Order: sequence, then structure tokens, then C-alpha cells
Amino acid sequence: MKFFIDTANLDQIREAQDLGVLDGVTTNPSLMAKEGIKGEANIKQHYVDICNIVPGGDISAEVIATDFAGMIREGKELAALHPQIVVKVPCTKDGIKALKYFTDNGIRTNCTLVFSLGQALLAAKAGATFVSPFIGRLDDISTDGVALIKEIVEVYSFYGYDTQVLAASVRHTMHIIQCLKAGADVATCPLSAILGLLKHPLTDSGLKTFLEDYNKVNG
Ligand code: E4P
Repeated sequence: MKFFIDTANLDQIREAQDLGVLDGVTTNPSLMAKEGIKGEANIKQHYVDICNIVPGGDISAEVIATDFAGMIREGKELAALHPQIVVKVPCTKDGIKALKYFTDNGIRTNCTLVFSLGQALLAAKAGATFVSPFIGRLDDISTDGVALIKEIVEVYSFYGYDTQVLAASVRHTMHIIQCLKAGADVATCPLSAILGLLKHPLTDSGLKTFLEDYNKVNG
């Protein structure tokens, strides 16, 4: 399973990249706003900065337009910024049309705001590179987000769709483990959830004992 980090914070992206296990970054307009990135030129430069921090990684950049023509114009501009850019498009009627256009024109895409198997089917048929089911937001309304990941993985495999299942709205470490077991191709996670994978009391106590024993004989 690939790891993306779900943030527009450059320090967190650098920290995740330094771990050596990062495959990409997802952003969205809310995450960009949280970092105070505003104005077209600054937003575009921020995407380029992210691409340069994660060489070879897939970097999702989301369109703001909601109409087909606007999505196409913005998506082309975003894709032209850097070869690593993946154009993120919402799962709406115009969004699906835009995904198909981008697929036909060799632009990689991430279909975002996906909450159902039917939406995932349309994303795959439009040739999206990634589909992003939002598991945390489903959990928030008492619906099993990870179960949706499992369903999409099974159905895509059954029909041989190439679209990669990118588990999004991951809120904590256990979500990552559940997505791994569900067969997600990618999980995009907050840094804290990724670092949570490292935590185990037996690792800490084992390391402490190893060092104490070493020091007993080595001084
Ligand atoms: C990623 O592509 C999504 O934009 C993100 O995971 C949404 O997460 P949230 O539901 O925690 O805002």
C-alpha cells in the first residue's frame, strides 16, 4: 500500500519525506487555506514546492471550478505546473465529464469526495487514476467508511478497473491498518497517524533493555 500525506504544511511534508516511505501528497482547498496559502500565483507555487520536496511522488492539486469548462481550464493549468501533479476533481456530473476528458488527454486525476460504490463506479469508468472515498467523514455519520473501501477494492478487482483506491479522510492510525487489510492501493494520512504506526511499548522497553545490557558490559 502506498502512503500519501494529507496536508499542505511543508514542514510536515518534509518530515514525512525524511522517513523515506512517502509516495505522494494530497491537498484540498481547506488544507491550503489552513496554511494561509492564497492567490492563484501563491497556490500554484505551493504545489510546485510540494512536488520538489517529494521527488517522483504523486501530488494532488484540486480544481476550484464546479463547471466542466472551468474544471478543464484549471486542470490543464495545474497539470502544466509539474509532471507529478494529479488533478483532483469532485465526483459531480461535470466532474465525471472532466475526468473522462483528462483521461483522454493523458492527464492523471484523483476523483474526490466519493462516498458510495456508485460514485466509485463512475470514477473508474471515466478512467480516473485514483478514486478517493472519504472514510472518516462516513464514520462521522455512523456509516462504515472502511467497509466502502473493501467494497470498491472487490468490485474494481472483479471488473478489472485500473483506478487505484485511495483511502482519504483517514483520521487515525487504526484507519491505516484497516485500509491495509481492506486492500486499499493508497492511504492518505495525517502525519500523526503515520507516526502512530511506530508506537509499541514492547519496542520501547526492548530497546531500553538492549541498551542497558550493552552499557553493563561496555561501560
Ligand atoms: C484527501 O484527499 C481529502 O481531501 C482529505 O483526506 C479529507 O479529510 P477530512 O475529512 O479529514 O477533511
